[in-house]
Amino acid sequence: MEITKICCIGAGYVGGPTMAVIAQKCPHIQVTVVDLNEQRIKDWNDPNTDNIPIYEPGLAKIVAEARGRNLFFSTEVEKAIDEAQIIFISVNTPTKTYGKGKGMAADLKYIELCARQIAKVAKQNKIVVEKSTLPVRTAEAIKSILDNTGNGVQFQILSNPEFLAEGTAVTDLLNPDRILIGGDTTPEGETAINALVNVYANWVNRDKILTTNVWSSELSKLTANAFLAQRISSINAMSELCEKTGADVNEVARAIGMDSRIGPKFLKASVGFGGSCFQKDILNLVYIAKTYGLNEVADYWEQVIIMNDHQKRRFSNKIVQTLYNTVADKKITFLGWAFKKDTNDTRESAAIYVADDLINEQAKISVYDPKVSKNKMLSDLDYLETRTADQNIKSLTVFNDAYDACKGSHAIAVLTEWDEFTTYDWQKIYQSMHKPAFVFDGRNILDAKKLESIGFVYKGIGS
Ligand code: UDX
Ligand code: ADP
Repeated sequence: MEITKICCIGAGYVGGPTMAVIAQKCPHIQVTVVDLNEQRIKDWNDPNTDNIPIYEPGLAKIVAEARGRNLFFSTEVEKAIDEAQIIFISVNTPTKTYGKGKGMAADLKYIELCARQIAKVAKQNKIVVEKSTLPVRTAEAIKSILDNTGNGVQFQILSNPEFLAEGTAVTDLLNPDRILIGGDTTPEGETAINALVNVYANWVNRDKILTTNVWSSELSKLTANAFLAQRISSINAMSELCEKTGADVNEVARAIGMDSRIGPKFLKASVGFGGSCFQKDILNLVYIAKTYGLNEVADYWEQVIIMNDHQKRRFSNKIVQTLYNTVADKKITFLGWAFKKDTNDTRESAAIYVADDLINEQAKISVYDPKVSKNKMLSDLDYLETRTADQNIKSLTVFNDAYDACKGSHAIAVLTEWDEFTTYDWQKIYQSMHKPAFVFDGRNILDAKKLESIGFVYKGIGS
């Protein structure tokens, strides 16, 4: 089957970059990304590609190259579904905030809406690809909706989870460790799998394209994220022990990382992991395990989240304790709000929770982040519903310049590991602050010795 038209429903952090790279690498395929959110589509179509709604290094250039040639962004969802041979579903699957599975299970309402829309519109056979992270056996639910409400056409459902990490999305997409495609083991299923394999084979070596059954593919995505998050919670657990014993977590991480069985990656102690995937996927895994009565399995994975919440709270407590047990009316400056560097995404960022704790203690928070807007920060806080929107506005001031943000503050807290923070004139910052001037480095990126020699009281994680 020769694929010439692809549609992707959902122009978010996954759909946007993934489709841009497919379009760049497959000029013979027309790729249309659709979204219900008109503003988002308008932003993707902004004549200046520096204004596209998602910031990822290298992405603007790829969009500039492919957009209008074979990459299109549109709100005409039905037209795009009708024309495409392959439809990627890349909509959001947040944790449920209501009903059964509240706070744990993935909310599949957007997925179901997509499936119903595809069923309604499709007049020819289609391959439907789950790209969003989904609970195991979602493909079965999608298939059931498609087969029971469709116009009698054939649907093949594939699971093709995305492993890109934000901030490195473009390089991850261009040079993936592997591409995973799960599908039915029937002849029709295999034809569909091959069609998608051939799309990726335009730039990915076939040895790196794994094909499995649908359930293995769905579960592999959850497992990969659970293992990665577990490593961070493990090193963060050790960071607390290091602080008590005089060991240094960076040295411990280096020592264990040189064991080739352990490896050096994902061992950076931090203020806690954030992002749209880790917490959601683990909660989802815990929910699935509980559904099958596997309570020990559920408790085991839940501990990764418990440790992460503890690490965030421990960081805010440490700030309060160090500042003589009161931060009321003190200016505390956050460097960074995004959940990691090189992205404007703030979902589940530790900064939100640390700010919320400190505002409860009546601190005045100032923030500088090179990519996150003031509105985003305020809406992140409002979402927690701890206090009114007006109270959040009064407690949070956002600066476009880091030096202005730090001026007159009692303490600086590094929440995101943006490279630029390491290159600042820290002597100048020190002079503009109240004394003693404290730095709480939630990412262990600053030069502790240098800061201490300037006069700062420096507190890192795990030392
Ligand atoms: C993750 C997975 O890495 C990716 O494969 C999957 O597709 C989506 O979820 P992402 O959330 O974008 O990607 O970023 P990641 O680099 O994994 O970082 C997640 C969080 O962990 C960030 O807050 C990061 O700062 C933190 N982190 C990461 C640490 O605290 N220490 C580390 O050593 C690594
Ligand atoms: P992710 O990180 O998984 O890409 P995002 O929230 O960034 O998640 O993006 C998901 C996108 O999917 C949003 O822009 C949202 O408007 C869009 N979306 C959700 N449901 C539908 C739907 N039924 N049809 C079209 N777009 C949808």
